[in-house]
Amino acid sequence: MPMSGNNNEHESESESRFDASLGLGDFVVGERSDPLAPPAGFTEWRRGAVAWAAALYEPNMLGSADARTSIQYDGKAQSVINLCSYNYLGLANHPEVIAAANKTLAKYGMGACGSPMLSGMTDLHRQLERTMAQFLGREDAMLFNSGFGGALGTLSGLLRKSDVAILDNRSHLSLRDGAVLSRCRLGRFEHNDPASLEAALARRKDKRQLVVIEGIYSMDGDFANLEDLLNVAEAHNASVFIDEAHSMLACGENGRGAAEIFGVEDRIPLVYGTFSKAFGALGGFVAGSSETLDYLRFYAHSYVYSCALPPVVVGAILKAIEVATREPQRRTRLWENANYFRAQLNALGVNTGDSTTYIMPLVVGDRERMYRLGHELRARGLFVAPVDYPAVPEDRICFRACVTANHTRADLDEALNIVSDTFVPAQLQHAQRSNYAG
Ligand SMILES: Cc1ncc(COP(=O)(O)O)c(C=O)c1O
Repeated sequence: MPMSGNNNEHESESESRFDASLGLGDFVVGERSDPLAPPAGFTEWRRGAVAWAAALYEPNMLGSADARTSIQYDGKAQSVINLCSYNYLGLANHPEVIAAANKTLAKYGMGACGSPMLSGMTDLHRQLERTMAQFLGREDAMLFNSGFGGALGTLSGLLRKSDVAILDNRSHLSLRDGAVLSRCRLGRFEHNDPASLEAALARRKDKRQLVVIEGIYSMDGDFANLEDLLNVAEAHNASVFIDEAHSMLACGENGRGAAEIFGVEDRIPLVYGTFSKAFGALGGFVAGSSETLDYLRFYAHSYVYSCALPPVVVGAILKAIEVATREPQRRTRLWENANYFRAQLNALGVNTGDSTTYIMPLVVGDRERMYRLGHELRARGLFVAPVDYPAVPEDRICFRACVTANHTRADLDEALNIVSDTFVPAQLQHAQRSNYAG
């Protein structure tokens, strides 16, 4: 097993004392008398003998979220190929987007300095609402100061205690938290499984039901099985909400997400997305009928009781939409890169799960091996995200790689060489040992 890039004596010793049975899922207990004091095991995991593992989290970026950037690693600046960013179309650092942000900043200053409901918003916010509504062919759109807050506010603002929200069991936490906050009954169906959705809907025929799905699932990088799931929802007269966080602007001929690809936009009454991914900025939006959104504006707490997006961000988003619309080749490049990288990984024997998109898990299936490899990859200049349980089941502990339009073939080939030198032999060695032991 290759040792980590943090190869000083202390950390090597720490690695040898790594307790792989402990992970983030083990520390959700209130074991001490003061709720402000975290479980002792967590503090040990974060700061003690196994801190080298947790050190992969919250990496310090030293540059922009571009295809190649620099992060702090092992006390030094480390150049990396960046497969950790959602800057799918390269708009976060596009010169025109930066110029638009500068111009907006000069005119409007930094903050909106108040809730949109009470203190209002700028003409630019209104322009972005109209732009999003037109872009998506909807009557209206509203903006949130965070993607997470948008999902949370929309679901908790519309669902009521007597309702049922039925979520795919791989749904993002913002969706689950939004449903929990509404205090509605929570149902789940097996990931992408129409029969399981059918069974969940049949259980509560007498209630108002909302089916919650995602365009692209953010850990697995697979599309929702939209056509089949919609058929089931419609057969039960259930409404549908789609989270297009990872698909909006990056999928479909015009960038209108997974629903555009599958030709089902008019069957989904409420669409939500974030500006933090392909748009390269920050914030969330929801688009649908003006009747629904008029109501939601007064009942989404994360909208009513939280400051509007900074105008500078709104100015940047408007420009990003203009560039993405004018240059559809960015989407083409993104998809070519994604298909190339996934095919090459698979040729190396790397398990990319169900991914068919630019998000791909590199499945390790073992916590300790994942953290050791995580250090080795960073030390070699490959920046991928560690994904541990409970974000994924234990047997799918993985790295998540996100390919973007700005990666060159040379970037992707270098990344593949690093994977081939490190990840592939570690997985092979493990498979051989397991076969031998079996
Ligand atoms: C599917 C999904 N929905 C919502 C969000 C929240 O978006 P934001 O990061 O913009 O708050 C994320 C974030 O990654 C996501 O993956």
